[in-house]
Amino acid sequence: MNAHSKTAFTFSRRPTDRPVAADVRADLLKDPGFGKVFTDHMVTIRWTKDRGWHNAEVSARAPIPLDPAAAVLHYGQEIFEGLKAYNLGDGSIALFRPEQNARRFQASAARMSMPDLPEAVFLQAVDELVKIDSAWIPKGDGSLYLRPFMFATEAFLGVRPSHEYLFILIASSVGSYFKGGEKPVTVWLSDRYTRAAEGGTGAVKCGGNYAASLLAQAEAMENGCDQVVFLDAAEHRWVEELGGMNVFLVMNDGSLVTPPLSGTILPGITRDAIITLARKEGRTVREERYAMDQWRADAASGRLKEAFACGTAAVVAPIGKIKSSKGDIVIADGSTGPVTTAIKAKLVGIQRGDIADEFDWVRRIG
Ligand code: PLP
Ligand code: COI
Repeated sequence: MNAHSKTAFTFSRRPTDRPVAADVRADLLKDPGFGKVFTDHMVTIRWTKDRGWHNAEVSARAPIPLDPAAAVLHYGQEIFEGLKAYNLGDGSIALFRPEQNARRFQASAARMSMPDLPEAVFLQAVDELVKIDSAWIPKGDGSLYLRPFMFATEAFLGVRPSHEYLFILIASSVGSYFKGGEKPVTVWLSDRYTRAAEGGTGAVKCGGNYAASLLAQAEAMENGCDQVVFLDAAEHRWVEELGGMNVFLVMNDGSLVTPPLSGTILPGITRDAIITLARKEGRTVREERYAMDQWRADAASGRLKEAFACGTAAVVAPIGKIKSSKGDIVIADGSTGPVTTAIKAKLVGIQRGDIADEFDWVRRIG
């Protein structure tokens, strides 16, 4: 934490005088998809070198004025997070491990030479927005996806860390991340592009990582795939992660394998929860390097039974098939396997308050 972290925070509240009408909102929430339906408000907090964090405000969601010389537009100094708020059966609203997002946001800020937003302020911002926009949390399977982000606003073209930043939190009512809903996804193996190299920014959540992944994602979509599976940058051999999700393999002895946190993949909060839950159930989880050739061989021999992707947006998504320039790999019969189904049910059950929360992950608000 920096010198400003103990600053007492008062959020000024200026609710919108033009909220979306209840019937229009109800219509939008029927089938929101992912990341298209936005709520009425946002939170903003400014940082300057001389004042630290200040002007915390909840106000109408609106476009933001930005100087064309703002550093983010030139050198991409930007970080973000993603977490969800859920309606629980008892009428309360809950978040899943939000302090982990606050800490990862701090780690991302440190790597990108940006100021440290105190965990308490991050959590307070989330509480403020979820409370004021709680009517936007879809009923049933949907949730409110919260997107905190921070970027360099200083108008200055020299290459050095900015002296001014803006933190914003927006929210989007969401259903399933993938268009196909629960159906297994098909992933595209990128043998041309990599996502992150050692010493780079792969372990943090900065916009630049995603910018660099988009050409591969476009290639994936052209080939009828939902996501890209990236290999390591040094040898083009080891499975790293998908464009926006971590990856797990389920072997025929019931064990799980997932790539280790080597510094080039994002330390997913869902990944961590799944490892914890699987180990608690007595399952062996190996965080070890897994080669793409091995994936191909294990799928062919039957040693590999299932594979799935996981992340906040996608939750747990079975991987049915990998497509690549060297041919396709179908995992088992390409359908959702029982281990994936059970892990997803357990995780979602805890997130939704239907299964006991023995690890104290669920934080109720309101
Ligand atoms: N990997 C990448 C590249 C991601 O963008 C995400 C999503 O945030 C994840 C993994 C999964 O992380 P988490 O489970 O914390 O959402
Ligand atoms: C998330 O899961 O929160 C992400 O940021 C990933 C992205 C694919 C939406």
